[in-house]
Amino acid sequence: MTDSSRIGTRLRPFGTSIFAEVSAAAARHGAINLGQGFPDEDGPEIVRRAAAEAVIDGPNQYAPLAGLPVLRHAVASWVQRTQGEAIDPDHEVTVVTGATGGIADAMLGLLEPGDGVILIEPWYDSYPAAVAMAGGRCRFATPAAPRYRLDRTVLEAAVDDGCRVLVVNSPHNPTGRVLDDAEWDAIESFVLEHDLILISDEVYESLTYGTPHRSPLTRPGLRDRTIVVSSIGKSFSLTGWKVGWTIAAPALTDAIRAAHQFTIFSVATPLQIGAATALGLPEASFETFRDSHRERRDLLVDGLEAAGLHPIVPQGTYFVLADVGRCGVIDDRAFCDRLLEEVGVAAIPTSAFHHDGRSGPIRFAFCKRREVLEEAITRLAGAARLLP
Ligand SMILES: Cc1ncc(COP(=O)(O)O)c(C=O)c1O
Repeated sequence: MTDSSRIGTRLRPFGTSIFAEVSAAAARHGAINLGQGFPDEDGPEIVRRAAAEAVIDGPNQYAPLAGLPVLRHAVASWVQRTQGEAIDPDHEVTVVTGATGGIADAMLGLLEPGDGVILIEPWYDSYPAAVAMAGGRCRFATPAAPRYRLDRTVLEAAVDDGCRVLVVNSPHNPTGRVLDDAEWDAIESFVLEHDLILISDEVYESLTYGTPHRSPLTRPGLRDRTIVVSSIGKSFSLTGWKVGWTIAAPALTDAIRAAHQFTIFSVATPLQIGAATALGLPEASFETFRDSHRERRDLLVDGLEAAGLHPIVPQGTYFVLADVGRCGVIDDRAFCDRLLEEVGVAAIPTSAFHHDGRSGPIRFAFCKRREVLEEAITRLAGAARLLP
């Protein structure tokens, strides 16, 4: 049990993250952990070698606040290559401590006390905590499960006069959705009408299985109001490096850097060299990476289907939702507990990512070795007996 008596009031409501809870329970019960979203194989050796050589040969001292020029230029070339958008590496790119660090820097740098930030449910768990740490106020937009489509009605229900920021994430964790043009049109008109800043979390940008990711940076109306946050964690299976970046027009970049200089100041220098190498890898390596994830997605989707758990086929990310509500499950958390303890597979209940804790689909990660997924699928066949 955590003793929360010394935790400040802003953070006290957040408790321990569901990922830490589920991973600890999975270890205790010897369950296969398809809960937390990290790969069980490390990223490209050439990238790890570049970082290792930098550790041995240097540089090993503080990098500049904004990040090493070589990485900022690599980010700009990456955006040019993937999105066709020109970025100024000196005034629009900041190297941050993973996307999580970038989100926190953006909130801390932008918000006035009491400013409203619209989060779309189900959210990534650092968002509401980052808003709280920055003294902001969360407002929630809740597209209906299991389709989770965004439109103006859903967004308008969340906004009030004090809102300054909207956070979107596409490809989306946990739903696996990639926003389509109609949804981006709705976001654009909403942001412009309410004079908002858009934070676009694009950490799964390389992991799409059909429609490619389109960044809002490419929309002229949003170009100067958007903060893109991304990292090498998911695209290169290097989640433990925590090297990320923000991309934003100079005035927004100045706000991010104003916070970053006092939260972190600068990110591990040799890892920045490795990250620059990663972003310069040839296109073929991304295709191989995507293909191997698509195969694993299909494997798990088929396994969940066979187990009667109603998978929702994801268009991106490395997560698949099982719509257990369709089988009559009314408490996703209790169902995940039983799945872990009685079937031996850990999953995450999406109720953890809703402000009102409403029960919903449950999330499985498929960024695991094939044999791990196969064993999980064998075990999941036993899930039928847990269904009402
Ligand atoms: C939507 C989303 N944003 C951000 C992150 C964190 O990224 P990083 O590890 O680069 O901080 C995650 C990790 O799971 C995520 O799913």
